[in-house]
Amino acid sequence: MISIKNPGQLQKMRAAGALLHQVLAQVRAMIGPGVTTAQIDRLAEQLIRKHGAVPSFLHYQGYPACLCTSVDDRVVHGIPDGTPLREGQILSVDGGLILDGWHADSAFTVGIGQISQEAARLIEVTERSFFEGMAQAREGNRIGDIGNAVQSFAEAHGCSAVRALCGHGIGRALHEDPEVPNYGEAGHGVRLRAGMTVAIEPMIAAGGWAVRTLPDGWTVVTEDGSLCAHYEHTVVVTQGAPEILTLPGYEGKGATV
Ligand code: MF3
Ligand code: CO
Repeated sequence: MISIKNPGQLQKMRAAGALLHQVLAQVRAMIGPGVTTAQIDRLAEQLIRKHGAVPSFLHYQGYPACLCTSVDDRVVHGIPDGTPLREGQILSVDGGLILDGWHADSAFTVGIGQISQEAARLIEVTERSFFEGMAQAREGNRIGDIGNAVQSFAEAHGCSAVRALCGHGIGRALHEDPEVPNYGEAGHGVRLRAGMTVAIEPMIAAGGWAVRTLPDGWTVVTEDGSLCAHYEHTVVVTQGAPEILTLPGYEGKGATV
């Protein structure tokens, strides 16, 4: 079932989104060579709890941390650990929280110190593919319009959109209907209506789209070992331009975090 949020509910999701934006901005500011993903996770947990929110990933289906931290060929669901980040790596950070019963979910990818041109370009293509997909999230369009826009943009830039994992509806639960694939056919799938809230989250690989899960049961990596980036926001469908709840103040330009 797809739920339509009323203005009062959207107001609460706006607050959750704004808080997650603030948390991830502070998390981003601490990332650099020598920092461990466990340290990053601890900061996120402190900030989330300090503001009266709850980390939504912690204990979700047994997941052991507040953030997912995925380095290089790790696509998503990397578990934070004590390994120091190294210059030249790329790190995807995915975070979620619940404020007053409402979820927000957002992710970004950042380079550690100086990174290769190829890696920087992958991050840029991933962010821009999000904005291409997001622009389709308006009343009357269909879910396939979002996925098609993401996929077309990624492929036009020599990258591929991971297919095994999708974006999703979001609200009182982290994962609600509908699924929001990052590939597909324009004009197909569920019709979008104002008040739907979706997490759009392209995972874009520099190589092929095939992925596999490591023996830890969580970490998803690219099959071919190619670099992968992730970018995600919680978005409200409207009759006009979508509102990005986890990017408050966004005014139509591509932006990071
Ligand atoms: N952000 C992820 C998603 O959109 C959630 C991570 S699931 C967890 O689906 F188990 F790792 F928390
Ligand atoms: Co998500």
